[in-house]
Amino acid sequence: MPALSVRHLLGIKYLNEKDIQLIFETADQFKEVINRSIKKVPSLRDITIANIFFENSTRTKLSFELAEKRLSADVLNFSASQSSVKKGETLIDTVNNILSMKVDMVVMRHPNPGAGIFLSKHVKASIINAGDGAHEHPTQALLDSYSIREKLGDVAGKKVIIVGDILHSRVALSNIFALKLQGAQVKVCGPKTLIPKYIESLGVEVEPDLRKGLLWCDVANMLRVQNERMEMSYFPTTREYTQQFGINKELLDSLGKEIVIMHPGPINRGVEITSDVADSSQSIILHQVENGVAIRMAVIYLLASQLNT
Ligand code: CP
Repeated sequence: MPALSVRHLLGIKYLNEKDIQLIFETADQFKEVINRSIKKVPSLRDITIANIFFENSTRTKLSFELAEKRLSADVLNFSASQSSVKKGETLIDTVNNILSMKVDMVVMRHPNPGAGIFLSKHVKASIINAGDGAHEHPTQALLDSYSIREKLGDVAGKKVIIVGDILHSRVALSNIFALKLQGAQVKVCGPKTLIPKYIESLGVEVEPDLRKGLLWCDVANMLRVQNERMEMSYFPTTREYTQQFGINKELLDSLGKEIVIMHPGPINRGVEITSDVADSSQSIILHQVENGVAIRMAVIYLLASQLNT
């Protein structure tokens, strides 16, 4: 059976192109399963998975839980805000206590970049990074590329622009790694203060003008302005941000061509994207969420198959 080159999913940076294709082919099979009337397979009946979330989440948490249940795994849900972390328990103690209950896999979201990498070196379980600070969000990038492949037939050769708060975005970094591995062309667009200086070293071009970027691209991935990660002001006002880097129907219609609109969610409606664009026929935002379940099933299934090897 084909296997991933890694035992944990800590970031797209650690995957190769074959890994991504294997995840997509496996997700294709699970997508067929979850569209059947009986949406469950017995593949992971002997596996226990803990979802430990130290940060808020809607899409990632629910779709990991659903993916695990569709695979018939036993599921533990841990929310830091209701746990003994509040009494000062460390990350390693917390996870080792969970693992002593015979847990095989940990899905973790944490505010600190590298938290999953740290954990993988200290505990005996397969770790999946569900977002670590401004570092990586690998399953989001996988479901984003999978959604582009579904909509446009392939990712190779496609032109993708990532718009907005690149500096604080784990979604942007993981998407850049994933898109470049698959042979897409990538540009970023946003306020100068929210574009990291090293970005061009990742093989990405900077396009300061949103309209020019939209005329160039096949796909625009609009990022959320992450106010919670900003310790200072990166642009004068939200209104000015929206005027320069927000997408609205008038702008979209003026391009004279169809482009695919993506957003990882949660959306700040009226800031980076207006409702009429988010809900338009060019938007695949809810398809991204739907594909998240099949992609997470594939990642969990492939990592689980390596647990006792
Ligand atoms: N896209 C994403 O990670 O959303 P959540 O924060 O709701 O999981």
